[in-house]
Amino acid sequence: MGYYYFSVDSAAILVLFLVISSRTLVQSNEEGYISFEISNKGLEFVKDLLIEKAETSLVPLELPKIEKNLRIPLIGRVHMEVSNVTIYKVHVTSSIVKTGDSGILIDVAGATANLTLHWRYSYSTWLLPILISDNGQAKVQVEGMEVGLSLGLKNQQGSLKLSLLDCGCYVKDLSIHLDGGASWLYQGLIDAFKDKIASAVENAVSKKLGDAIEDLDRLLQSVPKEVSIDNIADLNVTFIGDPKLSNSSLELEINGLFSPKDKTAVSNLRHENVQVPFSCKGPSRMVGISVHENVLESASTVYFEANKMHWIVDKLPDQNLMNTAGWKFIVPRLYKQYPNDNLNLNISVYSTPLLKIGERQVDATIPLEVIIDVLDACQVVPVACISVVISAAAYPEISSNALAGSVKLNEFTMSQKWSKIGNFHMHLIQPVISTFLRTIVLPYINLKLSKGFPLPIFHGYGLRNTQLLCTDSRLMICSDVASIETAQPHLVPVL
Ligand SMILES: *[C@@H]1O[C@H](CO)[C@@H](O)[C@H](O)[C@H]1NC(C)=O
Ligand SMILES: *[C@@H]1O[C@H](CO)[C@@H](O)[C@H](O)[C@H]1NC(C)=O
Ligand SMILES: *[C@@H]1O[C@H](CO)[C@@H](O)[C@H](O)[C@H]1NC(C)=O
Ligand SMILES: *[C@@H]1O[C@H](CO)[C@@H](O)[C@H](O)[C@H]1NC(C)=O
Ligand SMILES: *[C@@H]1O[C@H](CO)[C@@H](O)[C@H](O)[C@H]1NC(C)=O
Repeated sequence: MGYYYFSVDSAAILVLFLVISSRTLVQSNEEGYISFEISNKGLEFVKDLLIEKAETSLVPLELPKIEKNLRIPLIGRVHMEVSNVTIYKVHVTSSIVKTGDSGILIDVAGATANLTLHWRYSYSTWLLPILISDNGQAKVQVEGMEVGLSLGLKNQQGSLKLSLLDCGCYVKDLSIHLDGGASWLYQGLIDAFKDKIASAVENAVSKKLGDAIEDLDRLLQSVPKEVSIDNIADLNVTFIGDPKLSNSSLELEINGLFSPKDKTAVSNLRHENVQVPFSCKGPSRMVGISVHENVLESASTVYFEANKMHWIVDKLPDQNLMNTAGWKFIVPRLYKQYPNDNLNLNISVYSTPLLKIGERQVDATIPLEVIIDVLDACQVVPVACISVVISAAAYPEISSNALAGSVKLNEFTMSQKWSKIGNFHMHLIQPVISTFLRTIVLPYINLKLSKGFPLPIFHGYGLRNTQLLCTDSRLMICSDVASIETAQPHLVPVL
């Protein structure tokens, strides 16, 4: 059970969700088979994470030195400067995120910042022919800082391109407290720097945010378009179309299909038109993930073509059946030709299992070929082949960020494909095959399924309060997102 991570910074991925669509929807025939709908609740969550991240990554922020010459009656010309101005703490007290046709706006309505600086003044007067100077430290408290960010995100050749459309920072008020020197005397002079410090803070914060957005964009661009699932399959995570934005949600689509690692293998998958609007009903969740049945079909095709779906059975609950003696009365010729020889069953899935998402379950049709091998004097002799088509219902579920499930047998049909030991009486063989399916095949499939298919989640963050629904041709996963560490453990059911 592996969690599956994109190998990029979580904040970078999460910022995916903070986007603007350019509204110039490029008409294309390409379809996304996995879509994500991020609700306002989800956007709030992402915004809070980003702000938390910004609070720590903005500081320490150094501001340029500020100098000022003042002419003061009786004293004359005073040179003053503040240097080593450093913002060492930023704290956001209130913020909102808004979405709409025109984009997403993050509005930090209230923030405070703390700065330290070194102040220094010097003057000489005609009264005393010497240079008088003094210096010391000061603490600056910025009260009521506002920051507005408007972000754009577009699809650029299958990746997301993040851009900062607008960024403004406004300092409403700040207070300066001097330490050292004749501070009581010069407090008034230092206050003359208020406006300059305020605009220096505004410029520095805006610039730093601009740089941070560029860094995030670089990370987004480095997200691979294809991620490895295992040694057989890759998942295509190429973004399709521009993100769609409304006042209540943001929608993203990725291609979402499995493809073989070995790109020379050709897939015969049909890609039909799949536009189906979807939405998570019921209690509001942060994210809705819709998985089209073509995703399951592509996975089924890739794994089938990789020829991983066959196995040899040499043990049955009724071990008598693994010897020709056990078949004496069912298929007399088998015993006559190969008396008291052991048997193997060579089972393969002979064409791509069909998976259709129904109203409540996934309907699976699995075509099996069962070859009966006789082990005759160290030789494996295939003597007959029976085709068995299983119809089963799969009940998917989410456990620990993996899409897992269990399978129940509905019915099966069987026919003889070929035989070197005469025709079978199918009604005699049926109970044997039935037992075999229920005791060997289904438990085997359920064991495989219980391991689950890891969901593409974001580094360090997993799904919580997850609800999974089957609707016509789509699996809908409605979920909240939480840090994996704090997520409640969810045990994989024993199948
Ligand atoms: C600048 O300020 C920081 C923090 O207040 C202090 O650690 C550092 O020594 C100062 N540097 C100079 C050159 O004054
Ligand atoms: C930072 O400034 C705020 C007010 O703007 C003040 O309440 C807080 O105590 C200061 N924090 C530090 C560590 O100086
Ligand atoms: C991945 O998806 C994109 C967009 O649908 C498509 O152009 C590309 O060919 C796909 N890549 C593979 C390896 O299938
Ligand atoms: C969102 O926009 C629709 C119209 O497009 C409007 O009816 C609805 O009230 C808006 N919702 C909010 C929360 O603003
Ligand atoms: C099992 O049967 C397949 C054909 O369906 C054959 O290719 C394979 O070699 C057989 N395996 C064994 C071990 O007999």
